[in-house]
Amino acid sequence: MLYIGIDLGTSAVKLLLMEADGTIRRIVSREYPLYFPHPGWSEQDPRDWYEQTIEGLKELTSGCDRSQIAGISFGGQMHGLVVLDEQDEVIRPAILWNDGRTEAQTEYLNNVIGREKLSAYTANVAFAGFTAPKILWMKEEEPDLYARIAKIMLPKDYLAYRLSGSFCTDLSDASGMLLLDVKNRCWSEEMLKICGVRKEQLPALYESYKVVGTLKKEIAEKLGFPEDVRVIAGAGDNAAAAVGTGTVGDGACNISLGTSGTIFISSRSFRVDENNALHSFDHADGSYHLMGCMLSAASCNKWWNEEILNTVDYGAEQKDITALGDNPVFFLPYLMGERSPHNDPNVRSVFLGMSMDTTRSQMTQAVLEGVAFGLRDSLEVARSLGIHLTRTRICGGGAKSPLWRRIIAAVLNLQVEILEIEEGPALGGAMLAAVGCGEYPDVQSAAKQIVRVAQIIDPEKDLVEKYEAQYQKFRRIYPVVKELF
Ligand code: XUL
Repeated sequence: MLYIGIDLGTSAVKLLLMEADGTIRRIVSREYPLYFPHPGWSEQDPRDWYEQTIEGLKELTSGCDRSQIAGISFGGQMHGLVVLDEQDEVIRPAILWNDGRTEAQTEYLNNVIGREKLSAYTANVAFAGFTAPKILWMKEEEPDLYARIAKIMLPKDYLAYRLSGSFCTDLSDASGMLLLDVKNRCWSEEMLKICGVRKEQLPALYESYKVVGTLKKEIAEKLGFPEDVRVIAGAGDNAAAAVGTGTVGDGACNISLGTSGTIFISSRSFRVDENNALHSFDHADGSYHLMGCMLSAASCNKWWNEEILNTVDYGAEQKDITALGDNPVFFLPYLMGERSPHNDPNVRSVFLGMSMDTTRSQMTQAVLEGVAFGLRDSLEVARSLGIHLTRTRICGGGAKSPLWRRIIAAVLNLQVEILEIEEGPALGGAMLAAVGCGEYPDVQSAAKQIVRVAQIIDPEKDLVEKYEAQYQKFRRIYPVVKELF
């Protein structure tokens, strides 16, 4: 049988066709626009996601025996607010995970309702990109549109709804709404009250590997798919990437270097750090995870190369970088503000330490290092909880740079495992579909059979020492500059 994983990303939707044993038949990708209508705002049109997904599904399966397609599932960009009215029309563009407009609502939740209560109800506090502050923002700033809301959903759930008619979400993605009681895996009555949300406005909750319905008849016909193709709940993109990299069970770690940068630590038991600097969310394998999220990771490198240096040849910019651990230039990777661990939507990026002999490649190096230091900030929080990691897996566009992987291994002092197939959320989505269709008994078994390590990058001892000193300088910069923004 064949399984489809749909990775609904911020710049594109990526679709992957997988055979039951994990062999990948084909991958296609379709882009859609991202809008920044105000500085710090970030929006997309959910209808673009759907249209490009349908086109992608046609392309993905052209020439294959479509009668073999058994299941479809998702990894989706998290936290986005999608709102539909009674007629199922999209009320306004989706407000995305990296949108920083909700400072006032985040303040209100954290300081008036109070961080202790939020943490007790949801295991998390409010961050500007989370869904609940966005609902409050709509209530205050767009009352007419707010009054029309019949359904609230997350980005990938819009696809599941259009494809199957099932109004559903999964627990890993729902964790990022700040409406879920993460520990008990159900909606938090208290949070619903605080945000003025009625339960019928929210989707039904499923574990990520559960079947939520089948393809609508007319869509199956249009695509030439069998009518009984199952739609499986899927996961937030980080939990899906964790599945796709085999980051399941206790104490496994995955770093995703995409538009955002995340460090994801799976855990059999529920835990919360006392400052809520890391997100405490449900995992797609039925357990839990902790996660630090940087709002700009590979996107810092993209911005630096494409917008500033005017090149798309990232490799050429990196080839003269040799003096690792000795860079006098520092870069704070806060182009869209920062989530973990600072929770500061207003901070912005800084280059620091340039002199007349600073070179272009030192500045490129500073960008790569700044992102690695940002990941280290979250890793330090995990270490302070007594979590001892020795290795991590890595995925996402940025993970293709051998230099960046070496820097990350040394800055984090972790072995970095490179996988044979590195298709994070799209592969994770296809694996969840396979589990949902009964191909594997559970997510762990699927990961064990499908995911294989190809190469291990050891942290280089001399670099670890040098980067330790560099990191100690880096961490002193944010407290000094934050007041400027
Ligand atoms: C995670 C987060 C991002 C998005 C990116 O909390 O906001 O990683 O999921 O798509």
